[in-house]
Parts: sequence; C-alpha cells; structure tokens
Amino acid sequence: MKTKKIILFASGSGSNVENIANYFKLRNDVTICCVLTNKRDAKVIDRCNRLGINALFFNRQAFSKSNFILNLLQSLEPDLIVLAGFLWKIPETITNAFPNQIINIHPALLPKYGGKGMFGMNVHNAVKEAKETETGITIHYVNAHYDEGAIIKQASVMLNTNDRAEDIAAKVHQLEYEFFPKVIDELLSKQ
Ligand code: GAR
Repeated sequence: MKTKKIILFASGSGSNVENIANYFKLRNDVTICCVLTNKRDAKVIDRCNRLGINALFFNRQAFSKSNFILNLLQSLEPDLIVLAGFLWKIPETITNAFPNQIINIHPALLPKYGGKGMFGMNVHNAVKEAKETETGITIHYVNAHYDEGAIIKQASVMLNTNDRAEDIAAKVHQLEYEFFPKVIDELLSKQ
C-alpha cells in the first residue's frame, strides 16, 4: 500500500495543523511531509517542533516571484495540498500544476464573507456585525481566485445574539476540528 502524502500551508496559530496531525498520528497510510509557512514567527512552527513535523519558512520570492515552492512541491509529489489558515493567494503556476489537489478551509459559509481580506477574526467580526443567526465552515478546492473553487463540504452552527466574535470563532473552530481531517481522509481515499 502506497503511503499518501499531505503538505500543509499555514500562516498562523496552527491549531488545525495540530488537529490534522493528531487525526493521522496512528495511521501508517497517510503522512504529513511538511508544513510550509510564510510567517517566520508563526505559532504553527512551535507546534511543528513539538509534534515532530518538518516546518519550512518561505518568502514571497520563493512563493510567487520564482518557481522555488512550485519546484519543491513537485519534487515532494504530494497527494493533497491543504491550506489550513494560510493567507496568501496561491499563484496560478501552482494551482495549474495541482488541479483538484489543493484544498482550503474558510471560516464562514461561502459565498458569504469570502474574498480578499476575509480571514480569521475579520470574518467573525463581519458575521457578528451582520447579526447572522448561523455561520459555519466551507472546505473547497483552490483555484486562482480567492475562495471561489468548487465547494467540497459545508457545515453550519447556530449563533446566539449574545455570542461575541470570539465565541463565533470558537464555534467555527470546533466545526473545523470535526470535519477538516475527515474530508482530507475521504479525498485521499478516493485517489
Ligand atoms: C481557521 O479558522 C481557518 O478557517 C482560517 O484561519 C484559521 C486558522 O486557525 N482561514 C482563513 O481565514 C482563510 N481565509 P488555526 O491557525 O488555529 O488553524
């Protein structure tokens, strides 16, 4: 049996990275090759050190002004590339090289609250401001446009009027922890 390879991109705290790593910890058919980050001081790097996962920092030059990251990805031959709280737009050279092999998680029910600048707490603040009665997560394929690739899975959660943006974030994170690893697992099993 061939071991399936995942590469993760993350820019922030990395709690989804940790959750995904824990989900696949005891599985010898799936491995996390590495976590790639564009933030030198991202908390995800500390998590990777603790979890024994390779973490690699890259800059704009490597990502979108040269083919360094593209070449690295191609040489690693991942089965799936997973954006877990990654905030840069993926260059077309990379989306073209990995059609239907890059997925993202967005902390809202797309097409609502998507697009440039809509990430993390910005999303939850906007949901709070609009007095939404529900929010959720969207797991989708990544194409050359922010948050516009085909939707793979959505899940929603009810909101109370007294939920603060932080409470909304916590509810959304719970959904992410529940569904993201399962969706990754399902996609890998279809390949
Ligand atoms: C997650 O909520 C993810 O949905 C969001 O960033 C957070 C990362 O949390 N992604 C976006 O907003 C992408 N537009 P984490 O670092 O704790 O996993």
